[in-house]
Amino acid sequence: MTLMEGYPQHADAVRLPEAPIHDDPAAFHNELRRTYGPVVPVLLDADVPAWLVIGYRELHYVTSQPQLFGRDPRRWNMLDRLPGDWPARLFVTWQPNLMYSEGEERQRRGGAVSDALDAIERTELTRICELVADLVTDRFCGDGEADLVAQYAQRIPAEIVTRLFGLPEVDLPDLVQDIHHLLDGGKEAASAYPRVHARMERLVALKRARPGHDVTSRLLAHAARLTDEETVYDLMVLVGASHAGSANWIGNTLRLMLVDDHFSMTLQGGRSSVSEALNEVLWKDTPTMNMPSRFAVRDCEVAGRRIRRGDLVVLGFAAANTDPQVQPAAHPAGSGANRAHMSFSHGEYGCPFPAPELGEIIAKTAVEVLLDRLPDVHLAVPPESLRWRPSLWARTLESLPVLFTPTAPVGKISWH
Ligand code: HEM
Repeated sequence: MTLMEGYPQHADAVRLPEAPIHDDPAAFHNELRRTYGPVVPVLLDADVPAWLVIGYRELHYVTSQPQLFGRDPRRWNMLDRLPGDWPARLFVTWQPNLMYSEGEERQRRGGAVSDALDAIERTELTRICELVADLVTDRFCGDGEADLVAQYAQRIPAEIVTRLFGLPEVDLPDLVQDIHHLLDGGKEAASAYPRVHARMERLVALKRARPGHDVTSRLLAHAARLTDEETVYDLMVLVGASHAGSANWIGNTLRLMLVDDHFSMTLQGGRSSVSEALNEVLWKDTPTMNMPSRFAVRDCEVAGRRIRRGDLVVLGFAAANTDPQVQPAAHPAGSGANRAHMSFSHGEYGCPFPAPELGEIIAKTAVEVLLDRLPDVHLAVPPESLRWRPSLWARTLESLPVLFTPTAPVGKISWH
């Protein structure tokens, strides 16, 4: 049985891995819209067929219908035909976690996660973000040069989130390293996974015995009565989801402030336009471009496309955000306040409350601290030589090389 059997509408499908997505995503997506409409037949790696939803209204519809578009990858009608080394397997491998659960189970676990996150004091979170950002900046501020993606943006969120979980300080460096291996999805990912899992198991056992003021203890104490195993799996989801989105948001915002005069990082412009730049990035270079995360529960039709039971529906957040029907014009006054983008997805399976707000505190503080510590930071290369990572899923730069006047570290930092 070939991969394309059962996919008659994919005869002229778009081979996404070969498509010119990264240099000008808006132009690419508008070309797709003209040729295929708001729901596009695509081929992913190894010519695996799927549907890419690029229309704003259609994406809103799909994410608002959990009874029609499920989250459990075991529904996928291609799962047993996937090549063993399929690159995006991590996204479609079922695990007993919050992310792949549906219905009542989803409400139970999603409710516990939202309550545990919502108890985080925002001022305390900002304080921890400032300390971590200073700690990370200290590592390169004396060098006069740095790669703000590898040495800053990718360093920050995991260091913050693992502290919110109540992990012992001594565990942090190795865990943060393993989280990077996991999210990189490279050859280290497979060996890093069991190490992160084991560390979360130890954390849950520690907090079961000695609860503290942290996310893990609140999950364990929640009325949802999560088991230790459920808590371990959901902490893994939280670490991965919070790091990937927030790190790319920091990196893409620093890029915008370094290349776009409207946001130029001059001392007078910097601070006042960080929120506007963060929002502009969510519209124009959203950290999560696409997500292979919905599976049709039964045969249905969206924008004239017949979607069969078990078909994979890829959520095209970046494309929906640049849909001409909703795209806000560039920089009109107050555009920073237009938050109707789809960058946190939508509906029951979307980025759970209050994660978007916490993600914004992490990203905003990281950008502001960097601006304060290195006021004359500027690009070390011409803007047009910056390269986006060739990922179908995440929007992030390969690197962001900068120069600045070397400064002294702020020294020993106390967490308590
Ligand atoms: C503290 C920060 C964050 C936390 C704790 C967090 C947590 C989560 C969790 C638990 C999920 C899984 C929901 C599910 O599939 O059931 C999720 C999904 C998602 N998150 Fe976040 N997140 C954070 C920051 C961000 C940021 C900064 C972005 C992007 C700007 C983002 C975008 C998304 C998207 C697009 C999804 C996919 C939802 C879907 O499949 O519909 N998240 N997040």
